[in-house]
Amino acid sequence: MNTQKKVAFFKTDIGTQEEHAVMEVLRSGWLTTGQQTADFENAFKTYTGARNAVAVNSCTAALHLALESLDLTSDDEVITSPFTFSASASEIIHAGARLKFADINPHTGNIDPACLEQTISPRTKAVIPVHYAGLPCDMNEIMNLSFEYDLKIIEDAAHALESSFNSQKIGSIGDFTCFSFYATKNITTGEGGMLTCDNDALAEKIRILSLHGMSKDAWKRYHPTLNSGAKNYYQILFRGFKYNMSDIQAALGIVQLSRVDEFWEKRRVRAQLYRTLLQDIPEIELFDDDIRSKHAYHLMPVKLRTDMLTITRDQCIELLRQNGVGCSIHFIALHLHPYFQDTFGLIPSDFPNATNVSERVITLPLYPILPEEDVVYVVETIKRILCANLRKLLIPVT
Ligand SMILES: Cc1ncc(COP(=O)(O)O)c(C=O)c1O
Repeated sequence: MNTQKKVAFFKTDIGTQEEHAVMEVLRSGWLTTGQQTADFENAFKTYTGARNAVAVNSCTAALHLALESLDLTSDDEVITSPFTFSASASEIIHAGARLKFADINPHTGNIDPACLEQTISPRTKAVIPVHYAGLPCDMNEIMNLSFEYDLKIIEDAAHALESSFNSQKIGSIGDFTCFSFYATKNITTGEGGMLTCDNDALAEKIRILSLHGMSKDAWKRYHPTLNSGAKNYYQILFRGFKYNMSDIQAALGIVQLSRVDEFWEKRRVRAQLYRTLLQDIPEIELFDDDIRSKHAYHLMPVKLRTDMLTITRDQCIELLRQNGVGCSIHFIALHLHPYFQDTFGLIPSDFPNATNVSERVITLPLYPILPEEDVVYVVETIKRILCANLRKLLIPVT
């Protein structure tokens, strides 16, 4: 029997409350967008302080809709970080605009406002800052740039549900904010997302775009007390999409959102434990915190000092796996992927900070039901691996 300890990279915390909520929807006779979705949107507005919230079926959809609502043309540029998931960039392409990257601050993983400003041109219409791992970008600098250059700010808050910057909740700062409820996110609906937006007219347009561009959604058309007989037909107002959230997902979301602080506190404790245990290991570099911010602690990424080791980052991940520890990489920077290189002619030296961090980053397990003793095991395992693979320092002979 293999008695080796196993630490999964991620496990979801779904309880009986979630089970009951989903069962109620299954028995209700109405499964798609309806009252549950409206209730989830309202709870989300209360939580984030946002003026409008539109529930959708992914953060990717939310990013796409925010961009689509701006009616961008092929002359318009949108800037994002290269150190992110592909959706932050691919939705710019899907919306028909020109993709531009600006390099990151290697200490935070977030877009560097100085690099951002250098990348802004007269064609730039919007910026997608990504709050990496749950640490908010410098929203003072980014909002100042948006006023100076008349740019729309679409925050990618896939990691940053609980985050705030200068006590202002993420979701209530930029023009649009996009959240993810993917299976491994801070709260989950299996797949799902939310778009918050300050502007009522754009929020309404986004709601229409999210369901085929139709003037009335199915719930309003078929609901026995909401529809109005023969007049309940719809019109297509825009070239729309099929991005709506179902009531099954929303029922999960309502319960998960009611547990968001419980989840956050558990991840915070585990992230702090990691930081305490890892801080004295010279071959590990931690990402910076920011005293102006509340960190969402979505991920626990660390940077390996590969110059001090005889193994690569990928070999280190493989050794961790062989010792029962599941790890991941957030992210392989987008300009290192074949598609972005081939399509835009990008090379690693274009964004040196993102390249450097991307080649050294390892994401450690972090989730509410991760036992604290497993955090200790992960760190002890890292120490053993690093100790066995240290580069011998060459001491010059004098
Ligand atoms: C930074 C970032 N943006 C966007 C997304 C896309 O989220 P979704 O899977 O909900 O579309 C992810 C997903 O991992 C992400 O990490």
